[in-house]
Amino acid sequence: MNQQKRDDSQALSGSAPVPLVYAATLSTPSNHSALSSIDAISTLIEQNQLPIHLTPKASDQKLTQKYRQQLSEEYQSPVLIIDDKGELSLLIEGISVAPNWAKLQRRVVSAGRKSELLLQAAKLSAGQSALDATAGFGHDSLILASTGAQVTMLEQQPLLALLLLVEQQKMVQEPNWQKLMARLDIVHCTAESYLAHALPQRMAFDVVYLDPMFPGDSYENSKTGKGAKVGKHMQALHGLVAPPSKEAEVSLFDLAKNAIADSQDAQGQNQDRLEATGRRLIIKRPISAPHLAGQTPDEVWQNDVVRFDGYFA
Ligand SMILES: C[S@@+](CC[C@H](N)C(=O)[O-])C[C@H]1O[C@@H](n2cnc3c(N)ncnc32)[C@H](O)[C@@H]1O
Repeated sequence: MNQQKRDDSQALSGSAPVPLVYAATLSTPSNHSALSSIDAISTLIEQNQLPIHLTPKASDQKLTQKYRQQLSEEYQSPVLIIDDKGELSLLIEGISVAPNWAKLQRRVVSAGRKSELLLQAAKLSAGQSALDATAGFGHDSLILASTGAQVTMLEQQPLLALLLLVEQQKMVQEPNWQKLMARLDIVHCTAESYLAHALPQRMAFDVVYLDPMFPGDSYENSKTGKGAKVGKHMQALHGLVAPPSKEAEVSLFDLAKNAIADSQDAQGQNQDRLEATGRRLIIKRPISAPHLAGQTPDEVWQNDVVRFDGYFA
């Protein structure tokens, strides 16, 4: 773990404060929106028991790219920013990112098994349920939920969990998004603790989905040796979250695979019905990355960039 990630994990355990820089233009007496945003964010932190201690600071400077770079250098840790439009983002090593679900609107509206490889793999339909155990920015969760399925989203990283909660609160104000938002349940915890402890008392999921971090060089195509273009969201995540160790991969895989088996056992289904319901674990990997925990999948769906490895009970 490098110094930045060590500092980050200290900040994220609640032992160090998280800076929140907001545009001072929004805090004038005639415009309280930045301050009310801070109140709303603090309420979400409290309600969801996120280990985040905000230290707000008004900034007179315009939040240009140069200034963002300066802030990253000054704090040497992730910084939350509220810009002059009142939008929250997370600044990591000079790159600021936010879920920005509105940008996915067209994709979500037209999502189907033809257009989305993930949906070909997951085979979800309305009324079913999925566990996205590595939610990140929630983009894949939105695609899963576009089917009409309920999606429980787990995110271990408190600042990312906060961004997801803020985004859900924002999008639920949009009439077109309300139904989709009502199908998303965001939980801050690790996949391991949820699968080991919380799941048995909860509903059985039709699909468990994992998209864990992977080493930065896994984006390279093994045939051409050329790297796929890494989006800024993934670039920022690599500055914040380390890929799992081999042991962690094995533990995550076993728990996720058991969760599928457990949910079937719990319902006392026979083998014919298991095949008919098609409960499955789907794992997203860069095209040339090794299988998670070295486990050969039962079926694979892939394009030039990405692979979905499917495991059936
Ligand atoms: C590659 S990103 C997922 C991107 C996501 N699929 C999306 O569409 O935005 C991996 C995310 O999973 C989270 N994560 C990784 N391992 C986890 C675990 N064991 N439990 C919970 N969250 C985890 C990381 O913090 C990171 O935010």
